[in-house]
Amino acid sequence: MKLQSSRAARLSTAVLPLLLSACAGLHSEAAESIPLVVSTWPFGKIANDIAIADLIEGRPRLDAVEAGIREIERQSCDGSVGLGGRPNAAGYAQLDACIMDGPGARAGSVAAVEGIVHPITAARRVMENTKHVMLTGEGARWFALSQGLESVPVEDLEAKKRAWRDNGNGAEGKREGHDTIALLVLDGDRHVAGGCSTSGAGGKLPGRVGDSPILGSGLYVDEAVGAAGATGRGENVMRHCGTFLIVELMRSGLHPRAACEEAIHRIASKDPLGYRLDICFIAIDKQGRFGAAASNQRFPFAVTTAGRSEIRYVEPVRQR
Ligand code: GLY
Repeated sequence: MKLQSSRAARLSTAVLPLLLSACAGLHSEAAESIPLVVSTWPFGKIANDIAIADLIEGRPRLDAVEAGIREIERQSCDGSVGLGGRPNAAGYAQLDACIMDGPGARAGSVAAVEGIVHPITAARRVMENTKHVMLTGEGARWFALSQGLESVPVEDLEAKKRAWRDNGNGAEGKREGHDTIALLVLDGDRHVAGGCSTSGAGGKLPGRVGDSPILGSGLYVDEAVGAAGATGRGENVMRHCGTFLIVELMRSGLHPRAACEEAIHRIASKDPLGYRLDICFIAIDKQGRFGAAASNQRFPFAVTTAGRSEIRYVEPVRQR
């Protein structure tokens, strides 16, 4: 009972100002009410709604990031995230994830991990329970198991791996599209955090790591500036440190949307692919502004505050 009433008090202290600001119509790309959650793709709205509820209840921002992304991993949304995501060339999923907190620039990441149900949780455990930032493959799985994280057996994968190798499949398999959940949070105290999770490019070579677990590529968070996340063809993000670039562009004064667009122009200007990059970015800044940009497709992303949760769209950038 006591617990309930203190929780209710905490909730009303947290919610009232938020509702007031939402009623005041602070919903535009110019200035958002906080807390604010922005993520990639329409399925991001599922994650945002979970994350914003946590933030409104006063839970830590990293809990909000993790809880939102866990749900996308659980549902394997778009067949692109979690163990139900796109298989690699040998027919099984290898997952990538990372998490980063603004204060202290703390971060954790796992790459090419097999049979772990929630790689975002494994990434957070790397950040909180080791002196490292990134664990890969078998070591990442061993660590996740040692932390008691939910897993499935991978023994049956050995047969798949052997069959793939025995058939001389050294070349890259058929590539299929894929989506990544990147989720950015500005909490009620204006601290930033973010996370990212994916099964990566369908048909990728076993062992391939994409941009998502690489800090500065699939995700970057800077407590002084804001945060950025990426989705799309990881190779075309990680060769250019895409999200680090966006954060630096915001630091120099650009609006998050302009920073995302400028990053795509810069990458396109030096990449042989030009604008055929198949990449999309989202970003938020410390003022509670947000934006997104896409190289060559219409890109839906999810934006959520206490008062509203919606899917927005950006058209491909206008080529220079
Ligand atoms: N952006 C996810 C990947 O390329 O793996």
